[in-house]
Amino acid sequence: MKIVTVVGARPQFIKAAVVSKELRKRHKEILVHTGQHYDYNMSQLLFDELSIPKPDYNLGISGGTHAEMTGKMLIAVEEVLIKEKPDWLLVYGDTNSTLAGALSAVKMHIPVCHVEAGARVHNMENPEEINRVCTDHISSLLLASTQKSFDEMKREGLHNRGVIVGDPMYDAFLRYSDIKNIDEIALTLLNGNREPVPKAFYYMTCHREENTKDSSSLREILAAMNSLDLPTIYPVHPRNKKAAKKLCEDEGFNNIILTEPVGYLESITLVKASKKIVTDSGGLQREAFFAGKQCVTILDFVVWPETMVGYRNQLARPNRQDILEKLSKIQSIQSGYYPFGDGFAAKKIVKELELHSV
Ligand code: UD1
Repeated sequence: MKIVTVVGARPQFIKAAVVSKELRKRHKEILVHTGQHYDYNMSQLLFDELSIPKPDYNLGISGGTHAEMTGKMLIAVEEVLIKEKPDWLLVYGDTNSTLAGALSAVKMHIPVCHVEAGARVHNMENPEEINRVCTDHISSLLLASTQKSFDEMKREGLHNRGVIVGDPMYDAFLRYSDIKNIDEIALTLLNGNREPVPKAFYYMTCHREENTKDSSSLREILAAMNSLDLPTIYPVHPRNKKAAKKLCEDEGFNNIILTEPVGYLESITLVKASKKIVTDSGGLQREAFFAGKQCVTILDFVVWPETMVGYRNQLARPNRQDILEKLSKIQSIQSGYYPFGDGFAAKKIVKELELHSV
């Protein structure tokens, strides 16, 4: 089989790291990087540390409005598909790169396989939800990470094309989370200085459009973190680097360590060593769960309901009091609860592609 895989954003590189290795044992994969994430720390660093194959095509498309980005990707992916004539197009998750890849292929009658299908937040104001719903409805093979995602497909009449394979993020976590030692990690601060990781800390990421489009939400979130008993390590996404730096300086939030984005291996090591996690990322919520860490998610919708048990993961509004109240809870969760599969999702994804090929 010949498969064109389209990736573009940080979480997709992590999933591709485990799936591409499996796929290339028996099949030909052409890897397309849309360019959506392009800073060294957001892209090349992950390719290097996870030994992801060099992309065959780098489309160099990023920034602009959602329509500009998606439209340019649509045209550029089509050119690749005309040249490569693959048997399948493979996409992951819910970014603009996912939707553009899927839409280009389906218009050319190339079957699409969507990994992480069926995830829903039931809120069409969330740009990723639009990408998820549209991609699922135009894909031929829908590979769900969990039973709940599969149940969502049922509600939309999509389950005949769906299979539960587990979460390739979980495969990656099991494979890579013991590689780095927390004592070896040096944090690169926004001013370029290097610093060791503190003995005990909270770990935070926050970059979603909903939380960063105006500074009042981020101010509340940072004020909550600044008032905690331990420092917070906060690797900042390029989207809100300037705003976070300015707020910390203006408000004197010196219990927050602002750093450049960290690599994947560093990030999962920080997850495992942290006291608790605060995030608005779908991926970090799951990694916190895999590591048994308590997480507070600053969103007004649930992305991964599987994690919302026994205070393991709770939603909070971008409000100081609410975040602190949720962080003060103590988690209780039964052992033996593994909703994200068995760590062999990558193998199952390849098997499903083979089974559904004509
Ligand atoms: C995207 C995904 C989101 C995912 C996230 C992971 C969409 C709609 N959203 O959000 O689902 O959780 O990636 O990180 O696709 N930028 C840089 N350097 C980079 C990357 C981005 O400066 O390496 C800038 C862009 O030019 C843009 C802004 O950051 O101005 C936002 O980037 P964008 O790719 O639109 O979305 P993300 O917020 O990263």
